[in-house]
Amino acid sequence: MAEENQAILKACREIAMGLHGGTPLHVLEIGTGPGRVIALLLNSDLRYTIKKIVGIEQNKDIHNEVQKRFEDERVRVFIRNAFVGIDESGHLHSIRHALKKSLDFHIVLAVSNLVGWQCSLSGSNWKCKEREFLIDILKHAVLPGGGLFFTVYKKDELIDLERARMYRAAGDIIEFVDIGGQRHIAICTDAFSGEKHVSKAYTISELEKILNDVRSNLQRENIDIEYTIDSSSMFYMYGVIIRRLS
Ligand SMILES: C[S@@+](CC[C@H](N)C(=O)[O-])C[C@H]1O[C@@H](n2cnc3c(N)ncnc32)[C@H](O)[C@@H]1O
Repeated sequence: MAEENQAILKACREIAMGLHGGTPLHVLEIGTGPGRVIALLLNSDLRYTIKKIVGIEQNKDIHNEVQKRFEDERVRVFIRNAFVGIDESGHLHSIRHALKKSLDFHIVLAVSNLVGWQCSLSGSNWKCKEREFLIDILKHAVLPGGGLFFTVYKKDELIDLERARMYRAAGDIIEFVDIGGQRHIAICTDAFSGEKHVSKAYTISELEKILNDVRSNLQRENIDIEYTIDSSSMFYMYGVIIRRLS
């Protein structure tokens, strides 16, 4: 957590530095949860340059709680109750529908492995649509000149075991499922119905393949991006900055 916090702040500073000096920042966080990242930003040196933070949270109760948490900051912190990304049937819920205005954000954050949650069961196979998720955000939310920062878990047997231990300790029921010949963690959110969500982890080459595909796809629409993968700041995770150049 502490490592990821540092990586988030470092990435935000890096993206901000690439903008014209002193630009008042608009930040979007997808999957806000209890507001850890928003609080982190508001307690950092970045608070002076942040003009607006929009948080998107799919769970109504969590949404209400986090809205209350940032009541004092209501002139610049806005929490929306919406689901963004790939749902259980594999359908993409575009970020467009959750925003009042397109292309309004200098910094977009999708941390805590949100990109690794973009999977759904198709028959008996898991299909993961990270590409669609990333393309949608880069096309509709990130301002040219701005950037998206996301963190995903590294694919490693020991990290998988440690994550499994962590989830179990938190009371989750987990199992391992096969995706493309690799073992991935599925979390059973509802033990009664057996409803499962995969929290996928990535090898560096898989991550590069996804990012190169995203870049080629966006190039066809005259959107240029460049990406950097940070594999050393965090033990469990990769940190990825995708900068939208045009
Ligand atoms: C693991 S928490 C992480 C919260 C926060 N980003 C952090 O890192 O501390 C994930 C949160 O994202 C929300 N969430 C997950 N998938 C989402 C989606 N597709 N759209 C909107 N919210 C989502 C969940 O309800 C949960 O509150």
